[in-house]
Amino acid sequence: MNAQAAIGQAAPVGAEFPADALRAQFPALERAGPFIFFDNAAGAQIPRLVLEAVNTHLLDHNVQRGGRYPQTLAVDAMIARSRASVAAFVNARRPEEVAFGLNATSFIRLISLAIGQTLGVRNEIIVTDLDHEANVATWLALERMGARIVWWKMRADGCLHAEDLAPLLTPRTRLVACTLTSNALGSITNARAAADLTHAAGAEIFLDSVHYGPHGPIDVQAFDCDYLVCSGYKIFAPHMGFLWGRYELLERLPTFREDFIPDVPPGKIEAGTFAYENVSGMDAAVGYLGRLGRTLAGRSGAPDAHSLREDARVAMNAIRSYEQLLTLETARVLRESGAMIYGIDADARVAERVPTFCFNLAGISPARVTEAAARADIGIRDGHMYAPRLMHRLGLSPQTGVVRVSLVHYNTMAEIHRLGNVLAELRRTG
Ligand SMILES: Cc1ncc(COP(=O)(O)O)c(C=O)c1O
Repeated sequence: MNAQAAIGQAAPVGAEFPADALRAQFPALERAGPFIFFDNAAGAQIPRLVLEAVNTHLLDHNVQRGGRYPQTLAVDAMIARSRASVAAFVNARRPEEVAFGLNATSFIRLISLAIGQTLGVRNEIIVTDLDHEANVATWLALERMGARIVWWKMRADGCLHAEDLAPLLTPRTRLVACTLTSNALGSITNARAAADLTHAAGAEIFLDSVHYGPHGPIDVQAFDCDYLVCSGYKIFAPHMGFLWGRYELLERLPTFREDFIPDVPPGKIEAGTFAYENVSGMDAAVGYLGRLGRTLAGRSGAPDAHSLREDARVAMNAIRSYEQLLTLETARVLRESGAMIYGIDADARVAERVPTFCFNLAGISPARVTEAAARADIGIRDGHMYAPRLMHRLGLSPQTGVVRVSLVHYNTMAEIHRLGNVLAELRRTG
């Protein structure tokens, strides 16, 4: 089974996608004029709906939750609404499986510290050399608590293959921590195949869905994962993170909390105050995607929790389909400019990746490429992409690394061609 089979079918490539109408919903795109946002892997722009939700929170109920007056009750209601929305977005079995917080890294750390306290005969943690360092270093830190680290290595195609995971799993495996999609190479992992193997060995699987989030439908039940983490700022919401965990597992985890916080999810994962305005923005971001799905599916009437799940799924499948066109065109333009593309390069494998490309131009440093792009009003990034181990695997210095261009559904073919012109010019002038 390939990665696409594991995440559900995208709509047929080429299906009508309202890119222009959606762009109009992102005020930052208009304010930026000719500037092209091609650094979305470091954070995407947000739709008007999200801005309004953040503003409304700050203007009308910027108070602490848990009191008895109207504004504080409104905060409680907003958090409950946002939890239900995110639960629908990831297809959770119940809203209490969703916890809000600062970012993905702090959630990975929180879960890893709790897992670290449960190590016994099962003390092996499997990590990968494709992952963002946030999902590696956090687990490596458990060595001090008696963990033994086992490496699941990507193959030369820039992908993690489930067949390579199988021989690493033993009766001592406690957990597999892996990315659903590489924030550098854009390759998608077959999460379900990895989860099936992991569970057959009696272990648990932690999925880093931060980079996959804006590109396809998240379905924790279809993935059959145990934990999954995501960052709001990659999926059209403000800076915040959320964690989904299987309720029974969260219930058992020894997390840090003050004595007055009951030992039940989600409260036991959310000690302290988080940025409520951004949680409100996260709710609105799911609303934006739900609205898109509703429009595409031609549904009318007010959405409810069930229809929100379905609407979000339709939206994310349509996004996947449109992004495949962007992927094919970006790959074509990069090849035409003589770029060395790292990871999946073949058009036939477009369904196994998202439009995030790392590349280099022979004889031209990554920094020079991004500087030339910046002069042409295009935002792209150079460096190690927070995956220094991956850079070593690719035979590159983490100091200089690669150039990364990362698109989302509000990007267009015309923008790709403008990047192509910059690369062509660089190639001409050297
Ligand atoms: C795949 C992946 N995992 C983890 C992170 C870290 O997320 P956060 O900044 O929310 O801690 C990122 C951030 O870019 C990422 O792309």
